[in-house]
Amino acid sequence: MAKVAFIGLGVMGYPMAGHLKIKGGHDLTVYNRTAAKAAKWAEQFGGRAAATPAQAADGADFVFCCVGNDDDLRSVTTGKDGAFETLKAGAIFIDNTTASAEVARELDVAASARGAHFIDAPVSGGQAGAENGVLTVMCGGDPDVFERARPIIDAYARMVGLMGPAGSGQLTKMVNQICIAGLVQGLAEGIHFGKKAGLDIEKVIEVISKGAAGSWQMENRHKTMNAGKYDFGFAIDWMRKDLDIVLTEARSNGAKLPVTALVDQFYADVQEMGGNRWDTSSLLARLEK
Ligand SMILES: NC(=O)c1ccc[n+]([C@@H]2O[C@H](COP(=O)([O-])OP(=O)(O)OC[C@H]3O[C@@H](n4cnc5c(N)ncnc54)[C@H](OP(=O)(O)O)[C@@H]3O)[C@@H](O)[C@H]2O)c1
Repeated sequence: MAKVAFIGLGVMGYPMAGHLKIKGGHDLTVYNRTAAKAAKWAEQFGGRAAATPAQAADGADFVFCCVGNDDDLRSVTTGKDGAFETLKAGAIFIDNTTASAEVARELDVAASARGAHFIDAPVSGGQAGAENGVLTVMCGGDPDVFERARPIIDAYARMVGLMGPAGSGQLTKMVNQICIAGLVQGLAEGIHFGKKAGLDIEKVIEVISKGAAGSWQMENRHKTMNAGKYDFGFAIDWMRKDLDIVLTEARSNGAKLPVTALVDQFYADVQEMGGNRWDTSSLLARLEK
């Protein structure tokens, strides 16, 4: 049993912290900006709620974090009352936020200055993956530190990989989002075309999903896309945040991402339709408007 802290009990963090307590059997202290959520979590899972990130991290061997973006991450780590004020020497800070590779490298240096360690560990698998404890976790950091963190991360993961030094987990998550962006637009166009052609979409998907066009998005999203249901899943506001990180990184490493840049603009159109919190599969709604 390890002494573990978790900062950020949102859609993802709340169930992930729950798995660390229940499946991992660890001694948990949680922090959430909106304190009521931390109190609810502590009541549900039987851990402690702290008033600040610094208080949560005090004395912990492992400090997990899952907040929104780079600025949120800086605020709960190196900001006032942030976790790095109390992070002890030898402790490992594991960040599950989808953020830039730059902030990961920055926090790696800041943790080292305290004699502590940092692993960037963004996740894929969505709300269902977090609730079922079957996320894919892409890590960046030192191999020895990773080997110590891995058995703890296992509590909420099905696949955990070390991709390289600090920032490599975030770079891998960027590849993940690039692959999804173009694929979802292709799926939206396929379903749109099929409807216009008067085909039975359920039948079409049943057949083609077993062939070369099959994908997770096709399996898990075609029904809701066909029904025009988007009030769930991975919000477009989050996807645009991720694509902004991707396109910024591409400007610095010289990668050409024409389709990703175009799909980002399509998502801006969906936001204008009021779809900020709609699932990313709502690219079809843009074609149908
Ligand atoms: N949702 C998904 O399907 C999914 C999938 C993969 C990756 N991700 C990534 O995981 C991260 C979290 O996503 P989520 O869906 O869990 O988001 P969420 O439900 O909006 O939760 C965000 C959490 O961060 C906290 N937070 C935000 N800004 C903060 C700040 N400045 N100081 C302190 N706490 C702050 C929020 O606190 P409050 O409760 O006070 O607002 C909340 O606990 C994001 O980076 C997202 O891109 C999400």
